[in-house]
Parts: sequence; structure tokens; C-alpha cells
Amino acid sequence: MPRFTPDFLDELRARLRASDIIGRHVKLKKEGREWRGLSPFTSEKTPSFFVNDQKARYFDFSSGKSGDIIGFLMDVRKLSFVEAVTQLAEEAGMEIPKDSAETHARAEKAKGLIEAHEVASQYFQDMLYRAEGREAYDYIRSRGLSDQTIKSFGLGYAPNSKTALKDHLINKGFAPEVLVESGLLIRHEQQSPYDRFRNRLMFPILNHKGHPIAFGGRALEQGVKAKYLNSPETPLFHKGNVLYNLARARKNAASMANKEDSALIVCEGYMDVIALAEAGFGHAVAPLGTALTEAHLTLLWRACDEPYLCFDGDRAGRSAAYRSIDRALPLLKPGKSLRFAFMPEGQDPDDMVRKEGPGAFREALGQAKPLVEVLWQREVDSQSLETPERRALFKHELRRLVQSITDKDVRHAYGGWIAERLAGQFSGAGNSGAKSSGTGWKGKWQGRDFRSKSGYAPPILASTALKAKLGSGQGKTTDKTGARARERLLVLTLLHHPQLFATQEAAILDLAPEDKDMARLLACLIEALTNEPELDIEGVKRHIMTVPACAGAMESLLNDQQLKIVKFARPTATLAEAETGWRNTLSLHLHNGLLKVEAAEAAREAVQDETGEAHWRAVHNYRMAIVVDGKDDSDH
Ligand code: UTP
Ligand code: MN
Repeated sequence: MPRFTPDFLDELRARLRASDIIGRHVKLKKEGREWRGLSPFTSEKTPSFFVNDQKARYFDFSSGKSGDIIGFLMDVRKLSFVEAVTQLAEEAGMEIPKDSAETHARAEKAKGLIEAHEVASQYFQDMLYRAEGREAYDYIRSRGLSDQTIKSFGLGYAPNSKTALKDHLINKGFAPEVLVESGLLIRHEQQSPYDRFRNRLMFPILNHKGHPIAFGGRALEQGVKAKYLNSPETPLFHKGNVLYNLARARKNAASMANKEDSALIVCEGYMDVIALAEAGFGHAVAPLGTALTEAHLTLLWRACDEPYLCFDGDRAGRSAAYRSIDRALPLLKPGKSLRFAFMPEGQDPDDMVRKEGPGAFREALGQAKPLVEVLWQREVDSQSLETPERRALFKHELRRLVQSITDKDVRHAYGGWIAERLAGQFSGAGNSGAKSSGTGWKGKWQGRDFRSKSGYAPPILASTALKAKLGSGQGKTTDKTGARARERLLVLTLLHHPQLFATQEAAILDLAPEDKDMARLLACLIEALTNEPELDIEGVKRHIMTVPACAGAMESLLNDQQLKIVKFARPTATLAEAETGWRNTLSLHLHNGLLKVEAAEAAREAVQDETGEAHWRAVHNYRMAIVVDGKDDSDH
């Protein structure tokens, strides 16, 4: 008797991502659906070692080996089978079976429970075609399901009786205790056990091998307490680990010709999954009356990179979407994310395909928003941004969310993305310069989609001379000096062009100079302009002169010989010149440092992905890198 059952090993492989485990021993790079690296078994120069997370296997073309994570650890770390499995099980949070007798007993019991479910499922299916199942049958037909779909999902009917299933199963030789443990019967105190599911349309829930391990039952009469009743937690069934229709959805997705369309679709209920299958989307799944758990996300990401989550477009749907963001953030990994598809208000995917057809649903998927967009929208929606304190809170909240991402690369990428958005928002880029207000804000951010190739105008560095001084982000010292110089330049420009306050208010309020003198001077400027928006240069200077703590800083800024050569910062520059210069400097200030690393990374990815998102990211970063390099000398 082997110590580990095949089910245990399957579960182990399902819980761990092959690229995570193998990635600790081999440096892997994402390449399409696979990861690629140098073979750990030979001393090759060209990487021909591949890891496929969907298959949970590695393939080494250099040595000809292939296998799963267990075999990999045995080979690379010279572990025994039991050692490898034990280590991996610990990591997966799985309890290691103590001894073979216990394992054996457990496996036997599970087998018995599955058998009971198989018999029950057949019974329910038979009942659907009997007289007592007629109403249930008519009901599902009236909801647009074909006989073929009804059969392929194994739909059935639980008669309106407390003992129908029980009698049937006991006749087949099952012990009442087993049936209670399976959840098919309920034992209430001293009463004799009775059928859990009565007068319900039955949906069998299958494990990865296609065996039934639980049921969902939909009430057929009005006024029943629970519209849907699910099996309780049993040794076979843990709601949080199971997605309805997962095994079949994966298989269907894998056989789809168009890979872009094959990302799994997650919807809310049984009927959504089935109606979608009827409409040609055989790769939909659903949790079972719970929100998505960590285990669900891991299962989804094993099957695809960016599953679609479908939500009702109403308020409740949006807040459900928002909750799944919090669940997902800590678990994000490079390449693994979520897309959010919102249905028209009050409709679930089932309603939608029936009312508007598969085309409309496909379109809704096409318009799905990336996680980061929805996250941003949630934060924008959740608060008014009318006051500086609220804007500060907004920023603070975004930072906190980014911090909750555990993967370093993803966290940095989010930080960069959000800095960019903030810069765009607060500077009023892409807008006619109206003062930031609640609605103006939303209008602005919606106009700038990360993926839209035309919506992004790269900022332009004012001059090469300045670039030399401000630093290009290479090396920490230069950058620190550069950051200080940029802060000074921003404040000086503002000092000479107080009208900028009207259009750049949000960005100005958000600027937090590192240098204490500059921070104080800026605060003083803001205070003056908030009280008297019409102040001109001389008025501003007079006000600052009255604040001893700021007067000195202003003097030094006005006499900074290095900054004097920057044309847009001079009092003689036009407001438009000043504004362009200000915005570009700000952008540079917020982006510097991050870009080069990302640009190099993305460019490498892009070579392999000419059409996809990596390509666009590369284009984007490349533009940004040019900006950092200061190719544009328009201010000379
Ligand atoms: P819905 O109430 O949205 O139902 O529940 P639905 O899927 O649209 O079903 P129809 O169209 O009315 O037949 C969505 C899911 O939430 C769980 C079930 O898994 C259901 O599929 N649920 C719902 C429960 O577990 N219990 C309930 O009482 C209701
Ligand atoms: Mn519905």
C-alpha cells in the first residue's frame, strides 16, 4: 500500500505552481504560456528547459528529461520520493498521511462516499424523466437548456420526499452513517436520518476526475428558505477548494483554437455556467455560493493567466468585484491577474446570453477591465477628492493597497503604474485645464487607458543641459541630486508663474519635496495662493517675505544660477511654456528610476510577443526611457 494516494498527489500538484517550485533552482523567464531557462541537468548555453504550469510539468530538451515537481526535486536535490512529497506537502499546507493504514482507511472511505454520490446522481437523473420530475424538466427546458446540455451536466430531480433517496441508497447497500457523512442525508438529533434535498433541481458537482462529490439543489417552489442548497462540508467536499465545472472548463479551454479567448470565465452560479455552455462558452466555472477564495484563485491561475470574472454592473456587483480585488492582490504573480467583465445592470451571464445573445456576451468579455483599472476606479469612486486631506488619504490608501502585493516585481510595477496615473490626474494632462473637481477627475482618468496606444503622450524633458544636472536615473547619487534639483525647479516655476496653481492644483498639493526648505516654501506658496488665488509674482514674494522660515529658502532659489538657465522657469516665459515645462518635469520626477529596468525587461518580452500586451508595454516603456534619456531638446 503506497503511503500517498494518487488523489493526495494530484491535490499536491494542483496546489503548487510548478514554475514557483522549479523557479527556485532554475532561473526561469516567462515565454508565452511557458517558462524557459537553462537546463539544470546539462551545461547548455541556449535555454531549452521549459516549465508548463497548466500541465504542471517540466520538459528539458537538452537532457530529454521531463516530469512533475516531485520528480524534479528528487533529481535536482537528490531527495527520495517520500522526502520530496513531504517537503512539498508542507509547503502546500497539506497534512501528511501518518501511516499507510490510516491513508488506506481514508481512501476507502472516500471511495464509499463517491460511490454513494454516483448512485444518488444516477437516481436524480432518472427521476427527472419520471412523472414526478416532469415539472422540474419543463422548468429547465423553459430556461433554454437542450436535452443534450441537461444530460452532459447530469442535471436531475430530487423528489419531494424525506426518504426517497435514502430508501434507494439503503437498498443498494449503503450504511446510513455513510450517507449522513456524505451529506446526502441529514440526521437531526434523535430522529432517523432523512433526505437533505427535496423537490429540487439537482446539479452534481464533480471533482477533477469527473466523479460527483457534492450537489447543489435549486428550489422549484416559491417561498422556500434557500433558493439554492449545497452539500455541507464533507471529507470529499470543501467549498472553498472547488469550482463548479472546472475540470470540463479546462479541457474545453485547452481545445479552443483561439488562445486569447480561452481564459476561463468565472460567474456566480450554476445556471450561468450551464447557460454559457449552451451558448458556446464551455469554459465557464463558478464558486459555490461563496466569494472567491485563495484556493480558487490558485486553481484558476493554474489553468490560465487572466481569467475573466463576471459581475453584475449594479452596485452590488461592483462591490463584489472590489472584494475579489482585495483577495487577489496579495496573490498576484508576474503574468497572473484578473479581468473584470461587467454585465448590464440587473443581468447575470445567463440572462445576458438569453436576452442579447452570445455576441453581446463576447463583447462584454472584450471590454473587460484589467484588475489595476478596477482597483483605481474603486478608489476614485469611494471618496470625494475635493479637499487636500481627502486627496492625501486617497494616495495613502493606494499606497497601502500596493504594499499588500507580496510579489516584488508585481508590486513595483503597480507602484509605477499608479505613480503615472497620479501624475496624469493631478497635473490635468489630457484635460483642458479645468480645475480638478470630483467629476472632472473621473472624466480624466477614464480617458487614459493603459492599453490604448494613442491615449498616452510621453512627457518631454526640457533640455539636455538640464538633463545633465537633473540626472537620468542611473545610479543612486545622481538620482538623489536630480530629484532635489527637480523639486527646486518645480517650486521655482510655480513661484514665477502663480497662475499654474489654477490648473495644477492637485499635482501641486501632492508634491512632497524631500528637501525641508523646499517643503516649507511650497507650503507657504500654497497657503498664499489658497487664500488669494489672484496673487501675482510680486504679491507671492511679498507674502513669503513675511514668513521668516521661508524667506531664506526663496532667496536661495531665486539666486540658483543653475536653475536660471531653464527658460520655462523664468518669469519671462509664457504661461503655456511654464505649464508644459512644469508638467514634464513633474512626470520625470515621478517616474525616474523605475523606467529603465522595466523598459529593458519589457523589450525582451516583446521580442517573443509581437502582438500582445508585452509588446505594448515595451512601446510604452521605450517612450518613457527616451524621455529619461532626454532626447528632446525643444527648450534650446
Ligand atoms: P443567484 O441567486 O444569483 O441565482 O445565486 P442564479 O444563479 O441567478 O440562479 P437562477 O438564475 O435564479 O436559477 C447565485 C449562486 O449563489 C449560490 C448558488 O451557488 C447560486 O448558483 N446561492 C444562491 C446559494 O448557495 N444559496 C442561495 O440561497 C442562493
Ligand atoms: Mn440567474
